[in-house]
Amino acid sequence: MSQNVKRVLVSGGAGYIGSHVTVELIEAGYDVVVADNLSNCDMTCFEGVKKITGRNDIPFEMIDCCNAPHVEGLFSKYKIDAVIHFAAFKAVGESVAEPIKYYKNNLISFLNILDAAKNHGGCNVLFSSSATVYGETDKLPVTEESPRQPAMCSYGATKQICEDILADVVRATSAYGDTVNAGTSALGPVKGIALRYFNPIGAHPSALIGELPRGVPNNLVPYITQTAIGKRECLSIFGNDYPTPDGTCLRDYIDVVDLAKAHVAAVARMLDGKMKKNYEIFNVGTGRPVSVLELVTKFEKVNNLKLNYKFAPRREGDITAIWADTSLANKELGWKAERSLEDTLKSAWQWECHIAGK
Ligand code: UFG
Repeated sequence: MSQNVKRVLVSGGAGYIGSHVTVELIEAGYDVVVADNLSNCDMTCFEGVKKITGRNDIPFEMIDCCNAPHVEGLFSKYKIDAVIHFAAFKAVGESVAEPIKYYKNNLISFLNILDAAKNHGGCNVLFSSSATVYGETDKLPVTEESPRQPAMCSYGATKQICEDILADVVRATSAYGDTVNAGTSALGPVKGIALRYFNPIGAHPSALIGELPRGVPNNLVPYITQTAIGKRECLSIFGNDYPTPDGTCLRDYIDVVDLAKAHVAAVARMLDGKMKKNYEIFNVGTGRPVSVLELVTKFEKVNNLKLNYKFAPRREGDITAIWADTSLANKELGWKAERSLEDTLKSAWQWECHIAGK
């Protein structure tokens, strides 16, 4: 590869969002190294990435980011210009039951990445954060300035803590100089962006990569597609007595390919020296609230099928409504969500059919 091609390390790159981001990075001309310990996925999506991009030479490093020497080893082996850190556990309910598992994994892996980044001449670090950091708020849509509320689960707490760690490390390492000399063994500055995702859904239009939840899905769209294909009997819509137009919760569903493109825009901003501050935060959503019932109805319509669903009691911990003000990302990243909800819901169904072999 040419000396000028920038290399991006994608930790957790074999997973749902990581695989879509890997595709978009490669299509935008970056070199990518994928690191994953396959703790919550198999090689299905990585194989899909190779097919979509036609690239059989994408380096895959089977490492656990909680292993500091292994992370150090990665930074010694490759000259890394930017890191996108996805490697984390993400199940809300499990995090309530097993907080130590979540704090250990999500914090230590990120600390190891930041330590290695700082020790190898500095690096640009993009952290995969979540709208969960905002919690329940009256002022909608939420902007990046909206105050964060106390986390409702350990998963959410790890997102908040990792944002704070990144901000601290950026501040402390700025003393190491203005330029990032990735690949050297000297101390260097870390620059950071946190992207706060709203509700990522859908799959790549090729249907070769998508979400592969283990066990019973917690999230709405995988539950819908698994019900439609017959793996689940009936979708429960949690609560129809919320103070919303149709009584069901409102969310901002962002297409996973659009979300992936936001990462490419953020990486380019870091690598092209366009950041206005050394640590920046952007909401990544559509800016459009959609109710659970609306989403279900739309899924039925665009895919021409009937879904077995019923109304059920509210799910503990759910907030009534949240959606993004995306103007900062639109302006500063030159990015906006483009795929229609219809196309996203079609892609989710095509992916479910693909993995079911139909
Ligand atoms: N829902 C149902 N039935 C289901 C699953 C979900 O009605 O079987 C509803 C939920 O009650 C909610 C909406 O669909 O109103 C979306 O639920 P998801 O579980 O898909 O997503 P959440 O908004 O709960 O989760 C998001 C992110 C998480 C994050 C969480 C914090 O996906 O990463 O917000 O609350 F941690």
